[in-house]
Formats: sequence, structure tokens, C-alpha cells
Amino acid sequence: MHLDQPIILDSGSSSTKIGFKSDSIPKDVFPTVIGYTEDLSSLRHSDFPVYDLEYYIGEKAFNSKRVKHLLYPVWNRIIHWESIEKIWHYAFFDRLHINPNYNPIMMVETFYSSKEQQEKIAEIMFEIFCVPKLLLSKSPLLCLYASERTTGIVVESSASMTIVVPVYKGTIIPHAIMYSNIGGYTITKYLHRMLGNKYSQLKPQKFSYFIDELKKKHCYVSLNAEREKKVFMKTKKFNKKFLLPSGEIGIMEEERFRAPELIFDPLLDGYNDEPIQQLILRSIKKCDLTIRNELLNNIILCGGNTLFHGFCERLDKELNLLLDEKIKFSIKTFENRDFFPWLGGRILCEYAEKTDLWLSRKKYLDSGIDSAPFINYFL
Ligand SMILES: Nc1ncnc2c1ncn2[C@@H]1O[C@H](COP(=O)(O)OP(=O)(O)OP(=O)(O)O)[C@@H](O)[C@H]1O
Ligand SMILES: [Mg+2]
Repeated sequence: MHLDQPIILDSGSSSTKIGFKSDSIPKDVFPTVIGYTEDLSSLRHSDFPVYDLEYYIGEKAFNSKRVKHLLYPVWNRIIHWESIEKIWHYAFFDRLHINPNYNPIMMVETFYSSKEQQEKIAEIMFEIFCVPKLLLSKSPLLCLYASERTTGIVVESSASMTIVVPVYKGTIIPHAIMYSNIGGYTITKYLHRMLGNKYSQLKPQKFSYFIDELKKKHCYVSLNAEREKKVFMKTKKFNKKFLLPSGEIGIMEEERFRAPELIFDPLLDGYNDEPIQQLILRSIKKCDLTIRNELLNNIILCGGNTLFHGFCERLDKELNLLLDEKIKFSIKTFENRDFFPWLGGRILCEYAEKTDLWLSRKKYLDSGIDSAPFINYFL
């Protein structure tokens, strides 16, 4: 049934999303993590060899008692090739139950993926997985496609970062791209520290997945952190109970809004990165006056880290405070915005069928990736 259907694959720093072009959302999502049964922390070089080692992928890596070392092979870009190859193999064969010999692969790249990374991806896809065709594109542009626009400011806040990318009529305005290291991961880390100080059993790194789940369930963005704090001091009404690994009851108090506050106030945990509202403001200021209104009217919020309840309302408030009151803006939020890069990949596949964007196996074998129409069409 899916014999020659394009597959869209997005291996992000926190999760891998995979599915067919005919799927309306990714068919499967699992953590981009591999757990080795040996402790590798003494190995310094990030691409150390692991071929002989036993491993578990995805949720199993967190659950298996045999795992001694958790490795995340993607961080802004692919940092451990042997591990990501194992993860892709697992994604195709064990999760999608497909041998990709006949399926074109559309792959989402993180923003900072380089030409060397693209070469290596092509090598693995064509030479190891023997795929017939390949298409690569970077995450923020795909997010814009998913919003069915060609003009807008993409504000993508994912696990590893927050990036602001203005695009006008399909063309990126490169000098106005703004970036910060604050993403879902930094928020989870902050929450982990706060809860670890309260409940020492939560301190070990192996509980980071548990903390991430707690964050998704109980954290939210407040409209005004100072006021929210007073509310929490006055009443216990907004505290949330949760089950600690020991079986005892834990309580989340002001950590609920304090952790995500980091997006709007990175200094809270000592980061010098700019808050998200400042990134947007600086990006806009770098764009030509004549297009600013159109861009401001299309602020596209996407990435898993924007899913916190209250995120959009708070950003709206912060931008209102920063921008002149005569300036109008509109933040667009969408269902499934955590899957936006994947959904944009699906749209690009549609477009690639009508044009000739795919890099075929034959073209690759004849002249490598330099013949690929997608190379550098974004940057
Ligand atoms: N409902 C939610 N509320 C808050 N945060 C969430 C929610 N769902 C997911 N997240 C967070 O979003 C992040 C994952 O987002 P996303 O899937 O966009 O990142 P990624 O593609 O894995 O990573 P990257 O693009 O940075 O390489 C994680 O940090 C996760 O904790
Ligand atoms: Mg991503």
C-alpha cells in the first residue's frame, strides 16, 4: 500500500517524527535517544565508535534497567552519526515496518545543518538504506509552508533552541534571523533542578524524561509572573500533586509557571540569551520598513515548546509592551504546531512532485549532492 509513497522524517533533538505523505500527522513519534549498556561518558570525542555495543532506542532506552548511557545524537544538528543511523533504521523497520528501498525520503533538517551534514545524510540514505530519492529542507521554512503562507515571521521554539526567521514572498531575510539557546530542554533542565532540590530522589539524570512529562502536563506560562507568585503564596488551590518514583506524593507549586518563564526571562536561570519578545523585535527592526506590517501580521508560532497553556497570550502582552501602540501585529497559532516542520515537509513533497526538487539515486551516484536542486536553495 505504501510501496512508493514518500516518507517524511524529522529527527529532532528531542523526538523523531515519521510518517507517510498520505498521513495527516506523523504516524509515529518517539524520543530521539539511544541507550547503551555501557557507560561511555569517559569518551570525549562526540562521534566515538559504538558499533559493537548493545543498545535500546526511544522509550525503551529510558525504561531498560540495563542502560548505562543515554545518548542524544541530535543537538541543533547531527552530532553522533552511528547512533542516528541506528535510530533511522529503527524508525523505518521497527516503527513504520517498511524497508525504504522504494520510498522517497523527505528529511527535515535543523536550521544549522551544514553542507557536510547534507552530504553525510545523502550517503547514509542512498548507500545504507538504498532509498530511490531524497529531499532535504530546513525546519523554519517548512513551518511557514505548513501555515500555508509564503510571507511571515516564523517563531520556532523547539527542544534545543528558539529561532526567529522572517520570510518575504518565499525568500528568507538572512540578516534578520535571530536565535537563542532557550528551548524546551533548558526549561526541563531548570524544572529538574528545582524539583530535584525539593525531592532528592529526582536528582539523577535518568529522570529527565519523567520531568519532561511533568512539565508538559502541569507547567504553564503566566501572564504576569510576579502576580502569579503572590497567588501561589496565598492559596494552595493551584498546586498539583504527582507521583514520585518512590510512590510518595510530590507537589508542584510555583515551579509550574516559573520554569517556562525562562522563555520570557532567560536571566532567571543565568542565561544571557535574549527573551523571545526581544528576538522578534530585533528581527523586525532589521527588515525593510515597507514589509514590516505584512510580517507583523503573520507571526507564526510553532515548535513543541510553544504548546504551554498561556504562551500566545503572554507573547501578545510582551509585544504590546515593546511595540508602539499604533503598530498592529497578529500571532497565529495552529493545531499540531509541534509537528509543523513535518507537516511542511508533506507540503514540500506535494510541490516536489510537480517540480524537480528530488535528488534521485542516479543523480547522486553520477555527481553527488552538488546536483541536488535543494542544496542551498534555502540559505
Ligand atoms: N504540551 C507541551 N507543553 C510544553 N512543552 C512541550 C509540550 N509538548 C512538547 N513540549 C516540549 O517541546 C520540545 C520538543 O519540541 P520539538 O518537537 O519542536 O523539538 P525537536 O524537533 O525534537 O527538537 P529540535 O527541533 O530543537 O532539534 C520538548 O522540549 C518538549 O518538552
Ligand atoms: Mg525540530
